[in-house]
Amino acid sequence: MAELLLQAQGITVRFGGLTAVDAVSADFHASELVGIIGPNGAGKTTFFNAISGVIAPTSGQLIAGGRNLSGKGPHRYAAAGIARTFQTPRVFPDMQVSENIGFGLKFAGRSREGAWHLRSEESILALIGLGAQAALPAAAITPSQQRLLEIGMALATRPRLLLLDEVAAGLTEAEIENMAQLIRRMRDELDMTVVWIEHAVTTLLRHVERVIVLHQGRVIADGTPAEVVRDAGVIEAYLGDEMAV
Ligand SMILES: Nc1ncnc2c1ncn2[C@@H]1O[C@H](COP(=O)(O)OP(=O)(O)OP(=O)(O)O)[C@@H](O)[C@H]1O
Ligand SMILES: [Mg+2]
Repeated sequence: MAELLLQAQGITVRFGGLTAVDAVSADFHASELVGIIGPNGAGKTTFFNAISGVIAPTSGQLIAGGRNLSGKGPHRYAAAGIARTFQTPRVFPDMQVSENIGFGLKFAGRSREGAWHLRSEESILALIGLGAQAALPAAAITPSQQRLLEIGMALATRPRLLLLDEVAAGLTEAEIENMAQLIRRMRDELDMTVVWIEHAVTTLLRHVERVIVLHQGRVIADGTPAEVVRDAGVIEAYLGDEMAV
């Protein structure tokens, strides 16, 4: 069995009376490509917020590399090799594209064997396909290029676990396919575990090996795409609408 990178055990997040994430347990292993799907408001982003240290779970444990990260700040999650993108991209609009990447590199608190190709702005820009835009201010590139830039900023911290929140939202069909190819390459070539939240379910299911389905804060399925699409509970809660044409 591949190395266990992150264990989420019984993660619960409450906002007042609302339980956004309800006792979610999931293990993420080295070099896995995992999708997370589920209806709007299912708790997907809140789960990411909890496992990247952006918010503290109401209860539950997070264990990375044998260390208990529960209650620690986001920098401890970064030091443990966890990086994420946000559903609404967060780039520095007035800084050049290359400077945005440089910012991530400066905060790479750790060097990692095997991640040598992520040690320069040029190599990251080449990987995400923004070499020609390097000198432009981030505000001057398209929204879909800003999504790529945000991935580049996350890569610059040389993560072992990369969390992507709807990086294909608002993209054209062709751009979504390119994004899926990039995600595959990051996992294949950079020895990284990637967890990918997306509503573009048919594309996602074609590319991931494992998919977790959240519904009303709970895990209702965790298996291969073939298993999940046949699951009656998943079809009823989500896929019936998403995949019907
Ligand atoms: N900071 C917050 N305060 C209060 N309620 C919140 C907060 N963040 C999220 N919620 C609520 O928690 C639930 C889960 O939201 P979340 O954003 O995690 O869903 P999601 O699965 O990412 O949805 P989407 O697919 O629309 O992005 C929703 O009911 C949402 O309104
Ligand atoms: Mg969300």
